[in-house]
This record gives sequence, C-alpha cells and structure tokens, in this order.
Amino acid sequence: MRIDILTLFPEMFEGPLSESIIKQAREKGLLDVRLTNIRDFATDKHRTADDYQYGGGSGMVMKPEPIFEALEHVRRASGGAHEAGVGDTGLADGGEATILLSPRGTLLDHALASELARKSRLVLICGHYKGVDERVASTVTHEVSIGDYVLTGGEFAAMVMIDAVVRFVPGVLGDIESAETDSFFGGILGPPSYTRPESFRGMDVPDVLVSGHHEMIRRWRRKQALKATLDRRPELLERASLTDEDLELLREIEEEANTI
Ligand code: ADE
Repeated sequence: MRIDILTLFPEMFEGPLSESIIKQAREKGLLDVRLTNIRDFATDKHRTADDYQYGGGSGMVMKPEPIFEALEHVRRASGGAHEAGVGDTGLADGGEATILLSPRGTLLDHALASELARKSRLVLICGHYKGVDERVASTVTHEVSIGDYVLTGGEFAAMVMIDAVVRFVPGVLGDIESAETDSFFGGILGPPSYTRPESFRGMDVPDVLVSGHHEMIRRWRRKQALKATLDRRPELLERASLTDEDLELLREIEEEANTI
C-alpha cells in the first residue's frame, strides 16, 4: 500500500512512522509512505498556505490552491509504488482513496479502516488552523474524523488512521489471530488478557486460562467479550452479528447478574 500524506508539518510524522509495526511494514515493503509539504506548493513569495475566512470569524483557513497543486503533484507521481509491487498484498483492490481529515467527517471505525486497507493507495490531506477551504472537499473521496473532539490539526488524526488501516494489510501483523481477537472484530469488544505472573499483588489469573482446556478457554473469552460489551458499549450489541452460542452466553450473563 502506498500512502501519500499532504501536510504543513511533515516532521510530525517522523517518530510514529519509524517505530514498531509501521516501521516493520515499511521495511517489509508492505507500506510505502511519502510526505509532501503543502507549503512547497504555495506560489507567493511568503509561501502563504492560509488566509482569513470569508464572512469574518476567528481562525485562519487553509487556502485551496496549494492543496490542489500538491494533490495534482502526488497524483501525477502515482505509479511508483504500484510498479514496485508495493501494495500487491492479495487483498488490495487496486483502488485509491483521497481522504480529508476533519472533525466534520464521518467517524473512523473498524469497518472503514478495513475498507480502506483494501485500497492500494491512500492520499491523506491534513487540515490545520480553523480547517481547509470547503472547495477541497470536492476533490476527495472521503472526509473522515477520528472522534467527536477537535484536534490542533489533521496530522494526529492521519497517524491514528494509518495505524488502524495498516493493521489490516495482510502480512503487517505477524499472527492473523492478533487481528481476529481484537476489539471490534465481529462488532464487539475483545476479551481481557493476562500474562505472567499467575498471581500478582493478590490478583490471580482466572483458573480457566491456566486449565489448558481450549474449548473452555474459547467459551470463557467469548463470554467475557460479550459481558464487557454489554457493560461498556451496549449499543454495539444491537448491530453485532451474534450466534446462538452468543445469545446463550448473554442469557447466562443476565442470570448471573440477577442472582447477585
Ligand atoms: N482535525 C481536527 N480535529 C479532527 C478530528 N477529530 N478528526 C480528524 N481530523 C481532525
């Protein structure tokens, strides 16, 4: 997958893109990230990328011309990643998405992250200041928010989005199980997990997890995942696809709650 990031602050990405799983994905050739400084496409002598907003009001707005120019530049420079075979993961549908990060966008969730992971190329536009000129929205395929709060800029949102999307690209997570037991896989929260030591400050690992009984462990995990979802995010259960076993486990959870 190739990801082009259009931003006024390319240095902000250096750390996050050079550590851990993203770093490994880049080293394995599964991910090709390129940064483009929008300011390089501002043509006046002060390289102005923002301006006052029409109609008055506080806050500067990012101008459309440098963003359009930067977009056209990266689109022209397209082919590179595909020719090198980057993104040819077997899952990619070869499509492209151009995404404006904005608090006015649709909310990023598991489904959107996995949909975007099928693209062979993403172009992310990071807004800053009060936002970007609305005419930029006419040239994007998606406008995406990472949550109902306002960030100082789209850069942090782009990093979150890249992290969430890249995890779904085949080969990025070593063990396919890691994605399948995540929260939101199948629409519900994940189960709790424990590691050594078995007993810590008076808190013990649940017996079932050290029983070696795989079927009991699977059922326990599923029940704990359903219980956590019911307690913390009940609205997710309304949309989740639940099996007959899930409904039985939910009945057990309800009965146990009634007997306390
Ligand atoms: N830019 C500022 N706030 C944002 C948010 N919540 N999501 C995406 N981009 C943003």
